[in-house]
Amino acid sequence: MKKRFEGALTAVREVARDIFELTVESDLARTPSLPGQFVHVAVPGGDLLLRRPISLYDVDRTAGVFRLIVQQKGEGTARLCALAPGAKLDLLGPLGRGFTLPAGARRVALAGGGIGAAPLCYCLRKWPGVEFEMFVGFRGAQYAYGLHEFGARSRLYAASDDGSLGQKGFVTELLAQRLEQQSFDAVLACGPLPMLRALARVMAAHPDIPCQISLEERMGCGVGACRVCACRIREAGEERYMRVCRDGPVFPIEKVVLE
Ligand SMILES: Cc1cc2nc3c(=O)[nH]c(=O)nc-3n(C[C@H](O)[C@H](O)[C@H](O)COP(=O)(O)OP(=O)(O)OC[C@H]3O[C@@H](n4cnc5c(N)ncnc54)[C@H](O)[C@@H]3O)c2cc1C
Ligand code: FES
Repeated sequence: MKKRFEGALTAVREVARDIFELTVESDLARTPSLPGQFVHVAVPGGDLLLRRPISLYDVDRTAGVFRLIVQQKGEGTARLCALAPGAKLDLLGPLGRGFTLPAGARRVALAGGGIGAAPLCYCLRKWPGVEFEMFVGFRGAQYAYGLHEFGARSRLYAASDDGSLGQKGFVTELLAQRLEQQSFDAVLACGPLPMLRALARVMAAHPDIPCQISLEERMGCGVGACRVCACRIREAGEERYMRVCRDGPVFPIEKVVLE
């Protein structure tokens, strides 16, 4: 299947502090994709050789448009966020293995920390028949994005480290509280390592609920060739390395060695 596409940026919007929403018109949007899959974006300018992996935030297949949420971290993401509408993008994707739902899943929890909430948004469009409860955590209100959109398509719970948005505390605490009252057919999550570790502790108390997490790892090629993105996976009592870009980024939480 074709993986390299050209994209045309149609809109760039700052949606929170140092966080931008990029809208891209491209045939990439028309190819089958799953939430959790990512696009590997060439950085404009030509001097930064490595592409940057960014998760699909939302895909409108019919319109041939997808959106990304990009947090300015270093040079590569800063250049992407500084692009103006009309700019051309060199894209590889959709890459990796995305989230899947157990057969017949009716009620699903989504848990996202910071920029990790972005890949979960696409679940809301992809599986319209599912009842979603979405749990998001941000450092503070100024870093929060997508709340209106998430709230329109799910029952939304928000937390923040400083209490400026929703409940003061971590997103995993919100989820743990809700799991006391309500079970789910699956939990899908993405966020920084400390959040994923806390999530593993929460889910250990609910071993009957399948939980998948999306990992963020530094990447080189993005297509399985360079092994820069290795992560440790435990299966049948044995540990081995797998590639986040090709074997993931989504894995069952109980298989990932998170320490
Ligand atoms: C599967 C996946 C999905 C992602 N989805 C998103 C998203 O939706 N939105 C978003 O804002 N960010 C996302 N990221 C993180 C994003 O790719 C990094 O923030 C970005 O590559 C940093 O590049 P930079 O040039 O700005 O920073 P620099 O630190 O200057 O980058 C230097 C080098 O390190 C690599 N690098 C640095 N940090 C990371 C990182 N955390 N992950 C992978 N490579 C890194 C870059 O590719 C580059 O080669 C995702 C990462 C992965 C692996
Ligand atoms: S980034 Fe090259 S193998 Fe994963």
